[in-house]
Amino acid sequence: MTPHIHAELGDFAKTVLMPGDPLRAKFIAEYYLSNAREVSNVRNILAYTGNYRGVPVSVMGSGMGMPSIGIYSWELFTEFAVEKIIRIGSCGAYTKTLQLYDVLLAQSAWSESSFARTQNGDTLPIKHPSSELNEQLIASAKQQNIALHQGTVHSSDVFYRQDFMDYQRILNEHNAIAVEMESFALFHNAEVLGKHAACLLTVSDHLVTNEAASSEARQTSFTQMMDIALGSLVVAD
Ligand code: HPA
Repeated sequence: MTPHIHAELGDFAKTVLMPGDPLRAKFIAEYYLSNAREVSNVRNILAYTGNYRGVPVSVMGSGMGMPSIGIYSWELFTEFAVEKIIRIGSCGAYTKTLQLYDVLLAQSAWSESSFARTQNGDTLPIKHPSSELNEQLIASAKQQNIALHQGTVHSSDVFYRQDFMDYQRILNEHNAIAVEMESFALFHNAEVLGKHAACLLTVSDHLVTNEAASSEARQTSFTQMMDIALGSLVVAD
């Protein structure tokens, strides 16, 4: 039991998939997992544990932004014996090398956020996912013939920037090819606690072309991302 997760030790599997939206967590539990049961619902941040092809797995909403995923990932890692968190989210593309609905695996997260500095004085602006988890996700995509892009993502604290064209500078200076709002904090927490984290994203909007995903096509790319994430549980271990 923690301030934000009302569950017991043992209620979570070692691996947790984290979409931003709690209702997406509910959908994943109902659609993809067998014997799924709700394990926490504080603030409507729904969490479930079930099985995927016999492998125990949990799924829980992270909420939006680094403060939110920072809280949930910390409590999962420190109080519920969770070893691996795979964020499954969406992103905005900064370059035409990415198209709407592409699936992207974060190789690193660059951020101007104060999250790491505030957490433990760490001033490095780049955080990395677990290479072991990334290898499993890459192997899963390959096994299922699903195209998987890789690159640096920009973890932003601000969705509505005054100067949204600033993305061009971030692309040029930091080689960040897409923007989302959580990975930097998730990777930092995993690093500090000696745990594993990774981040898969589907391109839901495009800052160069101004396109935004239709709900139907969003679903197809979401399905591909889920196949990669869930497939990694069975190529692993
Ligand atoms: N900005 C930040 N996060 C996002 C975006 C965006 O444009 N699209 C999806 N997640």
